[in-house]
Amino acid sequence: MLIRELNQIQCKTYLVACAETRRALLIDPERGHVDRYLGVLAYEGLRLDAVIDTHTHADHLSGAALMKELTGVRLIMHKRAPTPQVDAYVDDGETIDVGRLSARVLHTPGHTPDSLSLLIGDHVFTGDVLLIGGTGRTDFAGGDSGEQYDSITEKLFTLPDATVVHPAHDYRGNTVSSIGHERTHNPRLKDRGRQEYIDLMASIAFPLPSKIQEVLQPNQTAIDDDKIHFPDLSQLNEVRQLAPHAVRTAIAENHPPLLLDVREQSEFQGELGHIRGSILIPLKQLPERADELSDHQASPIVVVCRSGVRSTTAAAILTGLGFTDVSNLRGGMVDWNELGLPVERQ
Ligand SMILES: [Fe+2]
Repeated sequence: MLIRELNQIQCKTYLVACAETRRALLIDPERGHVDRYLGVLAYEGLRLDAVIDTHTHADHLSGAALMKELTGVRLIMHKRAPTPQVDAYVDDGETIDVGRLSARVLHTPGHTPDSLSLLIGDHVFTGDVLLIGGTGRTDFAGGDSGEQYDSITEKLFTLPDATVVHPAHDYRGNTVSSIGHERTHNPRLKDRGRQEYIDLMASIAFPLPSKIQEVLQPNQTAIDDDKIHFPDLSQLNEVRQLAPHAVRTAIAENHPPLLLDVREQSEFQGELGHIRGSILIPLKQLPERADELSDHQASPIVVVCRSGVRSTTAAAILTGLGFTDVSNLRGGMVDWNELGLPVERQ
């Protein structure tokens, strides 16, 4: 197996390849370095099989979609990833074959709901969940310190001690560590129970990454277009979130809310289906088509998407346009399907 870290800065991109078949997997590419990745692949005589983001990044523009566009490879992410550009959504326990290598997916939420780790032989790529001598921040939307503690202690720390740890970031100049070393030395986790870890993470004031909204929006929505004025974090935080069962109850009542689905047409008719009676306006068309909803300016609207992220953006946009009763379906069609609630696929 061939493993290379290609950025040589705090933000890590890994190239993993099968030495026999020369098939390769690219993990967490950055958009600004795509030329370099293509150069290394060509120089090493490797053929890219797939590109994967370990989670939706908030600190840099993902290069995954551009690599997919340029090479035609599949883009893989966890099934809770909000972006529609993914070709294969994977979940805990699934494997991704790259030549004769087999990468096992571990769902390790905490930093984000869609965070995954990849176990390839005796190497584990931990994204921003477990870092060397640290852990990823959990204060972004969807982050959860308790989940992160469980992901690390119940999944990553149960791997063999010699497993080599490759994080998506390192701020201290470390390049490599092992599960055994992190289990016994990681200062965030050592001798700390779950509640102590939650309290510790809550006590740390992390500065917001610069340009977080400019980075998050294209990474979450696949829209990179100045014509859409995206809401800011405080507007997103104000969106009322409804649990799937609350939406299910509301649509059975005499005056049901309007269900507005903001995914792409292919997703609306795809595997997750849609909720009966919902209307489709893809997020990127919403600002110019919002007047189609003018009858609902003051009546309840529930916005729906894949994982509840794009729809939160849409709900904030509509609120900003003067719609007064807009809510979001929390967890989107992923949670709706997991709960076994009814869907249509036509
Ligand atoms: Fe991250």
